[in-house]
Amino acid sequence: MTIHYNLEAPLRLILDTDPGVDDAIAILMALAARQAEVLALTTVGGNVPRARATRNALALLQAAGRPGIPVARGAARPLSGRFRPSVAFHGPGGLSVRLPEPSATTAGQGAVDFLADSLMSSPTGPTIIALGPLTNLSRLERSRPGILHRSGGVVIMGGAVETAGNVTPRAEFNFHSDPLAAAHVLGLGSPMTLVDLAACRQVGISREQAAGLSAGTSLGRLAARIVQGWFARDERRQRFEFYDPLAVALALDPGVATMRPVALTVGVTEGDHWGETTIAGEPGPIALAAKVDASRFFDLLGELLEWRGFEVNA
Ligand code: BDR
Ligand code: CA
Repeated sequence: MTIHYNLEAPLRLILDTDPGVDDAIAILMALAARQAEVLALTTVGGNVPRARATRNALALLQAAGRPGIPVARGAARPLSGRFRPSVAFHGPGGLSVRLPEPSATTAGQGAVDFLADSLMSSPTGPTIIALGPLTNLSRLERSRPGILHRSGGVVIMGGAVETAGNVTPRAEFNFHSDPLAAAHVLGLGSPMTLVDLAACRQVGISREQAAGLSAGTSLGRLAARIVQGWFARDERRQRFEFYDPLAVALALDPGVATMRPVALTVGVTEGDHWGETTIAGEPGPIALAAKVDASRFFDLLGELLEWRGFEVNA
């Protein structure tokens, strides 16, 4: 068994998320990582409305046997307009499996205050992994400018850099959902890691590979059911791409991809360029995942979730 992530320095994580099928896998990966501590989940509307994202976050933690991890409710709307849930991909409930209703309730604080307190409470704040629209992070920076500098790192899944979008020909879902927030956060000039669609498309599995999955842990079995359930919901589906899980993998093991340092802008004018991600300069403060080491990603994923019957020829 090969452990690639750093066993010496525990990583403290907060996942900002809109679960979401791939968000759910990402959350389960983070929970399974022995040397990562998941401090909290903060929620945002996106794949599903904020209320459903929050319910799903609580339900996943309960199903994973970790109901004590706080969930702080975040933005129900983007900075401008409203979210449009991704029902075609994630289904109306956001997850491809039914989970029991959670008995835990949300934290007393909202996501922005929760994140602010977490970042201020120690000299080096937690690493933030943003898996949905960037509304919460933008609101956090607007209320306390510079605070993200206190984080141990920021890893974002979003954008389509020099590749086709998945909502429009140019835009990726998370950035398309709140381009004003994405433009703000990416324009801060702080170091951050970006996992865009071009990177995520390098890590997918086929229907046949998913069908052969089994797992050695209850976390892994739940993750396998989620992927298999996603395929079962539409017989035309042939490939599941690990969007949000790649962001978690990079937080745990930066060696999963080579990085390209760039400056990026996000289109904020309504029309064809809404949510489009463009390289504005090179080098720049954003580490854009470029060439993904798919074998290393799948080794890590398989190891965390104890997936078996899982052959990927990367
Ligand atoms: C991103 O959008 C959502 O549908 C996924 O959860 C992922 O965060 C991919 O474009
Ligand atoms: Ca997501």
